[in-house]
Amino acid sequence: MELAEVLKRRRSIRLYTGEPIATSVIDDLIDAATSAPSPLNSQPWHFHVALGTARKAVGEAVAQSTRFLEEYASILPAGQLEKAAEFYADLGNAPVVIGVSVPDSEDDVERTNRLVAAGAAIENLMLRATDLGFGACCITAPRWVIDEVKAALCVADDRVLAGLVLVGVPAEEPIPTERRRDAVTYLE
Ligand SMILES: Cc1cc2nc3c(=O)[nH]c(=O)nc-3n(C[C@H](O)[C@H](O)[C@H](O)COP(=O)(O)O)c2cc1C
Repeated sequence: MELAEVLKRRRSIRLYTGEPIATSVIDDLIDAATSAPSPLNSQPWHFHVALGTARKAVGEAVAQSTRFLEEYASILPAGQLEKAAEFYADLGNAPVVIGVSVPDSEDDVERTNRLVAAGAAIENLMLRATDLGFGACCITAPRWVIDEVKAALCVADDRVLAGLVLVGVPAEEPIPTERRRDAVTYLE
């Protein structure tokens, strides 16, 4: 697929068929992710691929976050709470959940650099998933249960979990989300 087409087609998928994904596909997605740029080519990321029992454990940890959703409701569009609760109850039936972690740092610049690199890797991964006909969604909301999620993904205490990426065969075709047109200033 042309890059422009992939960019247009990528949507956050929150409902999956549950069909398993071949390891060769996951390897391909990780290859795409690790092609991302990083400061001084430090490649600070680590990918924690949860399948089978581990995927179930991550799902159970995230499901606990539904009891905190009332707090999240204030930032959700009206009427979205029920949908969000349903989604977090089993991560939309995604067969694969990939945690992306980076080493923590006391230094703000270093921490930001690492998280930006992780973000670039996550986007590469999601675009490649779209390119191959799969769906993906990056999530960070289950922060209330972050310790439980990190434990389920075997992320060491000295690392930050930048996000979770769900991957699977889409069982929904979301309506494209609106984009702001005022997000640029040209300076001469
Ligand atoms: C850093 C980051 C965190 C996100 N966290 C969540 C999340 O916790 N839950 C969720 O449902 N979607 C999450 N999303 C997906 C966004 O809601 C989604 O990208 C946005 O609404 C635009 O829709 P689109 O991805 O379909 O274009 C996150 C996206 C990013 C980049």
